[in-house]
Amino acid sequence: MEELSSCFLVPGPVRMGPECLEAMSTPVITARGGEFREVMAGLNSGLRYAFNLTPSNGVPNQKSFSGEDGYKVVVVSGSGTAAMEMVVANRFRPNDRVLVPTNGKFGERVAEMCERFCHVKHLRYEWGRSFDLYEIESLLERSDYEAVLICHNETSAGITQDAEAIAEICKRHDTAFILDGITSVGGIPVHPSKWNAEALVVGAQKCTAGPSGIAAIAIHQRFIDRVHAIAEQGDVNPRYYFDLPAALKNANDDQTPWTPAINLAMGWSAALGNLKKETNEGRWNRCKHLARGVRQLFTDAGFTLLADDAQRSNTVTAILYPEGIDDAWRTRLKSTYNTQVIGGQDHLKGKMFRVGSMGETPVSEMIEGCKRMLQCFRDMGQDIPEMKVESYFE
Ligand SMILES: Cc1ncc(COP(=O)(O)O)c(C=O)c1O
Repeated sequence: MEELSSCFLVPGPVRMGPECLEAMSTPVITARGGEFREVMAGLNSGLRYAFNLTPSNGVPNQKSFSGEDGYKVVVVSGSGTAAMEMVVANRFRPNDRVLVPTNGKFGERVAEMCERFCHVKHLRYEWGRSFDLYEIESLLERSDYEAVLICHNETSAGITQDAEAIAEICKRHDTAFILDGITSVGGIPVHPSKWNAEALVVGAQKCTAGPSGIAAIAIHQRFIDRVHAIAEQGDVNPRYYFDLPAALKNANDDQTPWTPAINLAMGWSAALGNLKKETNEGRWNRCKHLARGVRQLFTDAGFTLLADDAQRSNTVTAILYPEGIDDAWRTRLKSTYNTQVIGGQDHLKGKMFRVGSMGETPVSEMIEGCKRMLQCFRDMGQDIPEMKVESYFE
């Protein structure tokens, strides 16, 4: 039997395109020479585009990491979690209080991380349920919080937070707003300036279709001023590798304090070039188109989606397994149909699957993947009608 082509519909890491793979296969260069400065400048400029910031020209020695809007981008060697830790470790004093509303695993991880560096009010909602914005507002009214931190797009539950509404609440209470944008930047509209966001984090392997192991932060000058102010007071949290002032000093010269992830930076820069060609709006719309098709198709096929209707994510869809099905379905989907999606996490392990609609995934791959998913459910005894899958993605 002819081997089926691969359908890789995982919500990160996503498939890397040929431009990214080719760029990474470049022979070694030094970390301190002009060649790497060129790579860094190109990467910084691509990142500013993905973060939806004002442009920089991507030319070495011209402060490619900064722009007119007061934001700077800093590349971090490590996955998205490393970048988030850099934000939290540098921004807060051990006695600061922060508010972290969560409705899934990655928000909970933000809260857990903050607990290592400051005091946290963890406002837990059920996975996939929208935040109660009145509760957030009344907490900010009643006490002083240094910041509100959210996971913008909760990959574990397929829900996108109403960042604009939370940003308004933060503005009203003069509270810093910080977002884990690891599966939103490059896939879902982000507006750091309009939201008055102090920091936004992205991981390369998600919506921007770059390699795993490199990430970036966009931080506003207010954030930077605060970091310097608390350093002057000597009231800082411990950090060494993730020291922001050191990173900023080096970024001024298109450099990094430590040996950078050179080939990953090359690959990511190429992947960001693809994003720029497609445009942010083009990619946001394609992700939306893919996710809308998946949501409607599986709803019509009788499945239940985990997330609240009004806030379902356009980069990942969380779908509950029907009675009698568990992760054996995913194993079979992979071995028989060469198709990969991801399972549920923590208490939802074995109870649901998640379909990624991010990165450079073409519509044709999503259509083929959905046909195989439905067929695999039929193979396992589920009564699913014949459906015209293409019509959901027109
Ligand atoms: C929203 C979100 N935040 C954080 C992470 C963790 O990122 P990383 O695995 O790149 O450290 C993930 C990974 O899936 C994620 O989806």
